[in-house]
Formats: sequence, structure tokens, C-alpha cells
Amino acid sequence: MNEIDIALTVNGEPVAERVEARKTLVDFLRDDLGLTGSHIGCEHGVCGACTVRVNGEIVRGCLTLAVQCDGAIVETIEGLSDSGEVADLQAAFEQRNALQCGYCTPGMIAAAQDLLKQGGVPSRDAIREHLSGNCCRCTGYHAIVDAVQSVAQERNKARAGVKR
Ligand code: FES
Ligand code: FES
Repeated sequence: MNEIDIALTVNGEPVAERVEARKTLVDFLRDDLGLTGSHIGCEHGVCGACTVRVNGEIVRGCLTLAVQCDGAIVETIEGLSDSGEVADLQAAFEQRNALQCGYCTPGMIAAAQDLLKQGGVPSRDAIREHLSGNCCRCTGYHAIVDAVQSVAQERNKARAGVKR
């Protein structure tokens, strides 16, 4: 078995582990670190359930090897949630019924935050486009777009208020 030592930061904590060279990032996060908020669906880069942030960019955890993240800063839904960064998105998803089983939700929230941190209020089409790599089997997507757009509007209002 080919194993490699890696050291990275996960949700603000230093992590040093020996991993199989072939282990995916999402398997590493779930199985080795117990961070089960990142889900596994297709394992082929299609569904987005495994979306996490690496060095500030969202990636597919099923298409990224853990060893590729040596030295990286990795953030999962647990980290995004604990820091409060996505608290408004999580509340909006709940209020607008943008989740049912919740399987897609961690990836959906990570992808939505990736769009909203660019600022402004994206159009519904832009939101759909940005979330097009994240599949939801339950909601039909309208409520998800509603939730993301409402948060964009609220954040924009808050930013405008700060500038006044
Ligand atoms: S499990 Fe990674 S994209 Fe589906
Ligand atoms: S809420 Fe069930 S897959 Fe999206």
C-alpha cells in the first residue's frame, strides 16, 4: 500500500496524517477526520454533494486526492457553519424549504457561498448557472434559487448600509 504523510489545515485546525495515495479528499475528510458533512453521491464529479473549499476555491472532494491537499487550507461545511460564514444561507434554506432530505445541502451551500462572496445580487439565471454542478433530487431547485437570491439581497442591503 502506497502511503504518504500530509499536513494541512482543516477548518482552522492543523492536521497531519498518513494517507493512501489513492484516497480521495472526501473519503479522507469523512473516514479519517470524521467530518461527515461532506457527502458522497456520484463519485464522478457530477452531483456536487462532495463540494468543499480548498485554498478559497470550491472543488469536488471526490475528484481531489487527499495527497493533493498537502499544505492546503481545506474548509468543509462544518467549518463554514461553525464560523458563521454561511449562517444566513442556512437560515434561508430552512425558511424557504430549499432542502428536503438535505443530502445535497452542504455542497449546495458551499457552492452558493462561492457565488455570493463575489458580491452583488446575481440574477436567477446566474444563480442557476453557478449551482448547475450541484444536483438536488428533492426540491426542484426553485426554492434553492429563492433562498440564495434572498441572501444576496440581504447582504447587499447590509453592505449598502455600512457604506452610508
Ligand atoms: S460525489 Fe463528488 S461530484 Fe458527486
Ligand atoms: S434536498 Fe434532497 S437531494 Fe437536495
